Amino acid sequence: MNVSASGDSHAMPGLRIVASHIRQSKVIYSAGIGMVAGGSLLAAQIPKLLGQVTDNLRSGHPGVREMAGFAGAILLIGALRVSTGWGGRVLVHLKGRELTYRLRNELFEKWCTLSPSYYHSHSSGDLISHALSDVDIVGDLVTLGLNQSISGMAMLLGAVWLMLLHTGWQLTFAALGPLLFIPLLVEWLGPAIRLQSQRAQEALGAMSQTTEETVEGIRAIKAFRKEEVFNSRFEKRVDLIVEEKMRFARLSALFSSLVPLMVNLGFILTLGYGGYLVATKVISLGDFVAMTLYVALLRMPLEQLGNVVNIFQRAIPSLERIEKLLQVVPEVVDSEEPLDASPAGAITVNGLTFRYPGSDRDVLQELSFSVKPGQTLGIIGVMGSGKSTLADLLLRLYDPPAGTILVGGHDILDYPLARLRKAIAYVPQDGFLFSGTVLENIGFSDPDPDRSRAERCAAVAAVHENILGFPEGYLTEIGDRGVRMSGGQKQRLAIARMIYKDAPFQIMDDSLSAVDARTEGIILKNLRNLSNSRSGSEEGGGKVTIIISHRLSAVQDADEILVLDEGRIVERGTHEALVSMGGDLCRAVVHADRSV
Ligand SMILES: Nc1ncnc2c1ncn2[C@@H]1O[C@H](COP(=O)(O)OP(=O)(O)O)[C@@H](O)[C@H]1O
Ligand SMILES: [Mg+2]
Repeated sequence: MNVSASGDSHAMPGLRIVASHIRQSKVIYSAGIGMVAGGSLLAAQIPKLLGQVTDNLRSGHPGVREMAGFAGAILLIGALRVSTGWGGRVLVHLKGRELTYRLRNELFEKWCTLSPSYYHSHSSGDLISHALSDVDIVGDLVTLGLNQSISGMAMLLGAVWLMLLHTGWQLTFAALGPLLFIPLLVEWLGPAIRLQSQRAQEALGAMSQTTEETVEGIRAIKAFRKEEVFNSRFEKRVDLIVEEKMRFARLSALFSSLVPLMVNLGFILTLGYGGYLVATKVISLGDFVAMTLYVALLRMPLEQLGNVVNIFQRAIPSLERIEKLLQVVPEVVDSEEPLDASPAGAITVNGLTFRYPGSDRDVLQELSFSVKPGQTLGIIGVMGSGKSTLADLLLRLYDPPAGTILVGGHDILDYPLARLRKAIAYVPQDGFLFSGTVLENIGFSDPDPDRSRAERCAAVAAVHENILGFPEGYLTEIGDRGVRMSGGQKQRLAIARMIYKDAPFQIMDDSLSAVDARTEGIILKNLRNLSNSRSGSEEGGGKVTIIISHRLSAVQDADEILVLDEGRIVERGTHEALVSMGGDLCRAVVHADRSV
């Protein structure tokens, strides 16, 4: 299992993250919340004041000074209300931003510690949605959730309190009663509306996907004469968009007529019952005016309160997902007492048998071999024979069983991970390149890549000329926004990246598969020359080189070649020895080689 057993099931375990965040900045949060609440309480005074103005006017002899006093008070309250409400919201938002920032960083750091097997069982789409939407939803909980619930509650309580004081509970209840359904309406219709808007969005996404596919696959579509099929597919997508948008329109229309209905009910009750109370002189005209203003004023905060419930409900699953992710324990970690040394010397593999976590099949069986510094080991085998798995174990992307892989006489498990990986220059099978310039990709191991060194490495990898042909040479951007490279160019760039790193161990995992035979020969010769010229000058002599390939030609100069099949070494020896032995599997590989 990936998830640690300690994840005891609280009712809402995710809330712990938020609670601890709020506790950490409790001073600022208290200030922010206090200001927001204060602003809303002030806002609740204004209808009351306007009521008093009304009573004053009604008395028939309004004094200019008195009226100016009211105007000044309203102005002052308005100004205070705006500044405190605004300031408080900004404070809470700033802090909430900090939480999303922190969560994203924590997630990213966690992901960097996890091994490929984790990514094997989780789609990258899911992970991206964790990093974006889940974190945003949690951010909303803190910022919108806190701001809206505090300001809504403060305004509601302030208004109810003032009304109770001046008009008694009967009218307060009658006037505000219908409004209390507004949060329920929001709570009920809000999620449906959001879901529907999401579905409309997805329908739109499906259409753009079809468009993209059509544009990118236009050759295949034409060649297979599938224009009709794609046309009707597109029509269906467009129909779906219309349908989903209509549903959305109906739902939001329902919502935006029900809420005013409640407000109007409140008005009717105020007019009827309140009017009667004014006529019977139980309350003043001013109280009546204040009451109608409250009905209008409270609509928004009550909608907000309903909204808060929705934000909360939506945030719980997101919080739980984030919490669960943060609790994943990486499978590969430093041993408890790592050696204080960098790996150097020969790689010795001793009876290595390996199966992937969670699998019931050995992918590697009883492998034993050794490569000394200055030597090259070739590994060939058909697809699925376990070549990349072996490379992954040498890099400790997965942990091999203890004692089966030794480097310089020490168990590979005893080296600190960081030092082990620093000591290995690796070219992955797909020659993955990152977005950035060509120079940054070649000097990937270097925070500040050196141009002339990158050029020398590119020359060894026979890609220097190609790079000079790019629009901006070594400063050309790679990736979606930049130059598109052929598979062979990518692989050679990845090899240049390996050479640049100049590490004592180099592993190339089928890194020449998309390179033509002549260029392959040149690169291999360059690599050999490089290693010979260096081995003389460096102590410890030369690098350990492992070349993995499905073609025999890529390993013909290796000191030893292992032929892997279904995780076993079925033949081994030099190129001549293997060819003269003419074993079945070797022949199969050699044969495949010719047909490429
Ligand atoms: N992460 C994984 N989990 C389980 N099985 C895997 C995993 N990666 C590879 N395998 C299996 O291990 C075997 C060897 O794969 P691999 O080392 O990639 O072979 P090669 O590089 O020789 O093509 C294959 O049968 C493959 O299906
Ligand atoms: Mg492979």
